[in-house]
Amino acid sequence: MQESKQTSTTATTKASLTLREMLRSDIEGVVSVENICFVDPFPRDSFDYVFTQTHKQQHAFVLSTGKTPLEGVVVGYVMVECGEQKAEILSIAVRPDFRGQGGAATLLKCALQTAKDLKCNVCSLHVLVSNVTAQRVYTKLGFHRVARAQYYYGTSDGPQKGDALVMECKLVEQIEGKDKKIEQDVSGKKHGTLLQCPLCESSRCTYSSLSLLVVCDDCDHQWEREND
Ligand SMILES: CC(C)(COP(=O)(O)OP(=O)(O)OC[C@H]1O[C@@H](n2cnc3c(N)ncnc32)[C@H](O)[C@@H]1OP(=O)(O)O)[C@@H](O)C(=O)NCCC(=O)NCCS
Repeated sequence: MQESKQTSTTATTKASLTLREMLRSDIEGVVSVENICFVDPFPRDSFDYVFTQTHKQQHAFVLSTGKTPLEGVVVGYVMVECGEQKAEILSIAVRPDFRGQGGAATLLKCALQTAKDLKCNVCSLHVLVSNVTAQRVYTKLGFHRVARAQYYYGTSDGPQKGDALVMECKLVEQIEGKDKKIEQDVSGKKHGTLLQCPLCESSRCTYSSLSLLVVCDDCDHQWEREND
């Protein structure tokens, strides 16, 4: 991957952070965020790969406290892999002292826009079943659960704890007049009070207007709702 000509874009976080494509000089900072945020962090090689890959499929973006790449420190990053039609969020993290300020949302929107620009029509990700915080961020950005992957994360805490939810966000193409306008599906809204789980009777259930699949927030039971 060539280093970006784009050095900064408008940051939309509540804190004054700069969003930009990751540069080689950011790797140290990204590794530091990774090590703080994960118990099983990606090794440095995973980030070096963004710059050595033959086909530019992996893209990474950082949030920094500095206005230019020479200033400030990296406080968050996202890495997305864009294939022929499908994209996957490989990782996202924000340093604990910068959380709750819209950092992850800004990074995710940037990754989704990149995937759309590269003609992907769906973006997926894996998230630990117990990582409810990250799931909230994803749901807010239009992701909905499509499956559960057993033993996805190797963990010594037992198989249940290593299970991942697979979440997807459709990147929808809409034809508007002569212009082809690509819009992100942000319809993965909660409609919690409208449906009740047939198993545990919880009314905290999630579905997207693009899918009939409903997932219970409490017991993870999945079923198909009636068409509207
Ligand atoms: C998950 C993570 C990236 C979120 O980062 P963040 O910058 O705090 O997230 P944001 O501030 O952009 O949150 C976006 C939305 O998610 C929701 N959200 C985020 N954190 C939340 C929390 N602790 N509780 C409830 N809702 C939360 C909010 O609705 C928020 O929207 P709002 O700002 O309009 O209220 C961060 O917690 C993190 O780095 N965790 C460790 C690494 C990790 O788990 N990565 C994901 C691996 S799959």
